[in-house]
Parts: sequence; structure tokens; C-alpha cells
Amino acid sequence: MEDGVTDQGFSADQIDTSRPHPARMYDFYLGGWDNYEVDREAAQTVIDILPDIVPAARANREFLQRAVRFLAESGIRQIIDIGTGIPTSPNTHEVAQAVSPDIRIAYVDNDPIVATHAGARLTGTGNTGFFLGDVRQPRSILDHPTIGKLIDFDQPVGLMLVAVLHFIKDEEDPAGIVAQLRDALPDGSYLVLSHTTADFHGGNFAEIDKIYTKATATLNSRPHAEILSFFEGFDLLDPGLVQVPLWRPDGPPPPPEELRRVGFYGAVATKH
Ligand SMILES: C[S@@+](CC[C@H](N)C(=O)[O-])C[C@H]1O[C@@H](n2cnc3c(N)ncnc32)[C@H](O)[C@@H]1O
Repeated sequence: MEDGVTDQGFSADQIDTSRPHPARMYDFYLGGWDNYEVDREAAQTVIDILPDIVPAARANREFLQRAVRFLAESGIRQIIDIGTGIPTSPNTHEVAQAVSPDIRIAYVDNDPIVATHAGARLTGTGNTGFFLGDVRQPRSILDHPTIGKLIDFDQPVGLMLVAVLHFIKDEEDPAGIVAQLRDALPDGSYLVLSHTTADFHGGNFAEIDKIYTKATATLNSRPHAEILSFFEGFDLLDPGLVQVPLWRPDGPPPPPEELRRVGFYGAVATKH
């Protein structure tokens, strides 16, 4: 096994600083520094409309970390993390390898800005790899040489689609994308998925969607039932598809007034 596999396959001029990028806007919500003026302006406009985006993004990130720890503790030894985002510590490999250092992680994102940071912060340790890939082309992800090096499809895989499918439009068939990825996984594999929703915020999201329309990817918030349909062919684990702070919280669940602020559903499921 090659350590720290990186196949970024991009050139610096692919980094578009003229339009906001969702990855860099999310980095700003999380309090990171890997963003440009254009991202900060767009993210700040979203925050002005919906201040709750900041606690929601953080709650989503905490869900990701709890879910990865769960995968590692459940015996998963290989993870594909699609839409991984600009590295934010602790990253998937840090959480997983704290449980078991031999866990292998293939990181995938379609934003070149993520690739610029991947070398040092995602693939700096052994057993991890990063490549530029688009979830809308699942076959090209599954067939990528970095996946070939890190993932053995005869063994259970942890597939992570955390806060990424809301960038996929209905006409791009998000359920079909998940199904194609699912079909490549052996039984006993896990799916970790989270997704934004307007179920708790009503009208505000239309304005926010408009801001993302000017960015490199549109935001497509969805209701609970639609997100649930992405889990076809999987068994949801307790407590099912819930607002992310309610997914196996480490401490007491947040009070209703805090929970109301989190427009993110998340779940973990197994392939049967
Ligand atoms: C909100 S961030 C989520 C980061 C991380 N998964 C988390 O939840 O903390 C969404 C990421 O998905 C990536 N993304 C958006 N559309 C994508 C696509 N079609 N294929 C792969 N990645 C995509 C963005 O570049 C961004 O880095």
C-alpha cells in the first residue's frame, strides 16, 4: 500500500476566485481561513439571512465525526469520503485512525481548492488518498486508480456523502447516484449521509438558494421524505434520519430552541 496517495489532477488556474465556492463558504461558516473575499461576501449574505447556518454547519461537522467514530468502532477499515471539503480538523482520517491506525481513507471532492490543501492536510499520513472527482459520475470515482489502491470492494466499505447531495439537482438524479455507488459496495457496508433541509426554516431558504445559484454549485434543500428515499437498499440504524444533533449525541440532546436552528438531516445505514 502506497502511503499518502495524491492524484490531484488539476492546475492552479482551475481555482476560480471570481465566484463563490460552496467548499470555501462552508469553510467560512466553520471559522476556517481557506476562503477568498468573494466567498466571505456570499457566506456573510447567507448568514445575514439565516444566522443559524453557522451552528447548523458545526452540528453537521460534529455529526460527521460521531458517524466516522461509529464506523471505525463497528470494524470498518476502509472509507470513501465524497465531498470531503476543505480540511477541517479533525478530518475523517484523524477520527477514524484514532480508533484504528490501519483504516484507509479515499477522499474525493470536485473543487480544485480542496485539492490544494489535500496534500498537506488530508494525505500527510499513511493510508489516505485524495483525488478530484465528481459524485455525478460515480463510475469514474469507483474506477479511479486511487480507489483501486486504497479500497478492497470484497470488504465492507464506509461510504460518506456528508453535506454533498444538496449540491445535486433533481434532474441530475441524486437517488440514482447513491444507487450506483451502493451497487458497488458489499453487504455489511455503511452509508453516512447528511443533507440540508428547509423543513424548519420555511421561506428563508429560497433566498439562500439564490445566492448559491451564483456560486459554482446550486443548493437544493430537500424535505425529510425525499432525503429518506436516498437510503433505498440500506437499513437505517437507530435513530433513523434525524436532525444531525439527534444522531447518537455524545451528551444530552440540545433543547428545542437550539434544535430548531439546525436545518440538516443525517443518518447512518447498512447495506443488506
Ligand atoms: C458543505 S461541504 C461538506 C464537507 C464535509 N463533507 C462536511 O460535511 O463537513 C460540501 C463539499 O462538497 C463538494 N462538492 C459539491 N459538489 C460536488 C460534486 N458534484 N462532486 C464532488 N464533490 C462536490 C464541495 O466542493 C464541498 O467541498
